[in-house]
Amino acid sequence: MNIGIMGAMTEEISQLLQHISETGRETRGMREYVSGTLRGKKVTIVFSRWGKVAAASTATTLIERYGVNYLIFTGVAGAMDQDLHVGDIVIADTLIQHDMNASALPGIERHEIPLLGISSFKVDSRHTDSARLAAESYLSENLTTDIDADTLHAFHIHTPRVVTGTIASGDQFIADNQSALALREQIPALKCVEMEGAAVAQVAHEHGIPYLVIRTISDKANESAAIDFPRFIDKVASRFTCGSVLRLLDL
Ligand code: ADE
Repeated sequence: MNIGIMGAMTEEISQLLQHISETGRETRGMREYVSGTLRGKKVTIVFSRWGKVAAASTATTLIERYGVNYLIFTGVAGAMDQDLHVGDIVIADTLIQHDMNASALPGIERHEIPLLGISSFKVDSRHTDSARLAAESYLSENLTTDIDADTLHAFHIHTPRVVTGTIASGDQFIADNQSALALREQIPALKCVEMEGAAVAQVAHEHGIPYLVIRTISDKANESAAIDFPRFIDKVASRFTCGSVLRLLDL
């Protein structure tokens, strides 16, 4: 398998790059693609930047130029499920582009991708199951060794959970209760919101390759999100996601 690993954080990419046995590095379209072997698997790793367009163009380059046949997107997300807390890990089984709305046109539903005719992208359960196992194993073995007790305490991280469910993506950073509520009402059983996953899912779906989106909760998509998000990324997120991805490659 030739795996494309995309991240929405430079911190996370740099952590993964510490473990790669590099065979090539190339800058294209303002992204740096680093190829090599990671935990015995052929990979190309890239910082995609943020948003659906950035993610889609990066995913396309990974497929067309680097020949990847499996796409993994990792990063952070704002919680939508009230039971999720900072530090919990969400693995997408369904991805929806929450800002896609052509429903003014006859016969098109909200969130439906016009002409593609589907409103959500389903992830193969073999990949969600492996990711779940990897994230649980990382948290149970490395949480307290990778992150010091003071940091865990500062973020109120006690026993992070791993859940599988629906992730919504859109070109908006959600940072107020009203917007969060509107999204929860539109999308039943929504776990979290981010800005890339469902775009990667669309590109992978259209090219007929499998994909996986794994996210760590960095904030609650409310009025504190703009403060919680950068603090969390800096101190915790890169370790969680990098640790889980390495574990996944080991499986
Ligand atoms: N990624 C992390 N937190 C987010 C939020 N609140 N909205 C959108 N994307 C995010």
